[in-house]
Amino acid sequence: MARISKSKNNAAEIPQHIAIIMDGNGRWATRRALPRNAGHAAGSETFRRIATYCRSIGVKYLTVFAFSTENWKRSAEEVQGIMQLFDKYLHEAIEEMARDQIRLRVLGDLTRISPELRALIEQTDEISQEYEGFQANICINYGGRDEIVHAARAFARDCADGRRTPEDLTEAMFSGYLYTEGIPDPDLIIRPSGEIRISNFLLWQSAYSEYYFTDVLWPDFDEAELDRAIESYHRRERRYGGAQ
Ligand code: IPE
Ligand code: IPE
Ligand code: MG
Repeated sequence: MARISKSKNNAAEIPQHIAIIMDGNGRWATRRALPRNAGHAAGSETFRRIATYCRSIGVKYLTVFAFSTENWKRSAEEVQGIMQLFDKYLHEAIEEMARDQIRLRVLGDLTRISPELRALIEQTDEISQEYEGFQANICINYGGRDEIVHAARAFARDCADGRRTPEDLTEAMFSGYLYTEGIPDPDLIIRPSGEIRISNFLLWQSAYSEYYFTDVLWPDFDEAELDRAIESYHRRERRYGGAQ
């Protein structure tokens, strides 16, 4: 269990929603003279381990960035290897979800994903819909800008169809058009691998998230690292624009 010292500020609780940019798989593999896809395989094991840990310490939502709308720029071999890992993970997850009552959602533009993988995603979504415990969200072909454009299009369609008028739109309503509909905004966003940037992740949802950056590469990320991130989160004072 996490050894977490509680403080009096409003970040004292375990974050309800943690989001992670799972970065550094390629460098991890290259340093070991392994193919990049060996890094992705190791990274998927880290995800499994961290999801289990998050659930055990009372985190309600874990959202991970697994493949971005920009990651198609990589070699066909690497992209194919990553897609195969999703397929393998989801097949294995079906049993685990039922055993542990885990809700699994895949977020992103799935129109570019193979029909086979899409069918598997729909299947896992349907199976886990009734589970209300811990929720894991895996972002695949996800881009924050793409998500906002997708939402704006859907809202425009509803206006054109007469279901809404432009004046109806509020921030809360717009949130409901995003892939993350129904999921609270992340409290804590973690990026391993030493890069200090957001790379198109959860642009709308991160308005008031706390950030944690570490040089550790994702396949080396472990429970102790997550504890460090949460300890750092506990030292923050979340003001949301207010004054002390
Ligand atoms: C993150 O690791 C996984 C994906 C983006 C699919 P990277 O593959 O980006 O690893 P580095 O940044 O090259 O080390
Ligand atoms: C962000 O990592 C995307 C994922 C982890 C899935 P990248 O490795 O693609 O980001 P950049 O290129 O370093 O910004
Ligand atoms: Mg990277």
